[in-house]
Amino acid sequence: MPKLTFISADGETTKTVESPVGITLMEAARNAGIDSVAGDCGGACICGTCHIYIDPAWWEKVGEPIDIEQATMEFSENVTPHSRLACRIEVAAELDGLVLRVPPED
Ligand code: FES
Repeated sequence: MPKLTFISADGETTKTVESPVGITLMEAARNAGIDSVAGDCGGACICGTCHIYIDPAWWEKVGEPIDIEQATMEFSENVTPHSRLACRIEVAAELDGLVLRVPPED
């Protein structure tokens, strides 16, 4: 199973987990107990509470946000050029080793 590393907003805590292929990063974060990735809408891309930062080294492999995702993120705070919504990204074998940062609380 691909390994995912979540880094807390303050950079103090790192958690690496294995995640099944095919679930979303939002589900993987919730399974890993990353409370700040709430996923309130269940992955419908309307709440923005699964906002996460992709490590710049992984940006090209993960890819740009799609239009609906971009529109939802307009209501999120602390959006950066490496922001994505975790419910829009599927865990895949080629993402083994992916590093994600949790945004500061809105
Ligand atoms: S879970 Fe609501 S936008 Fe991702």
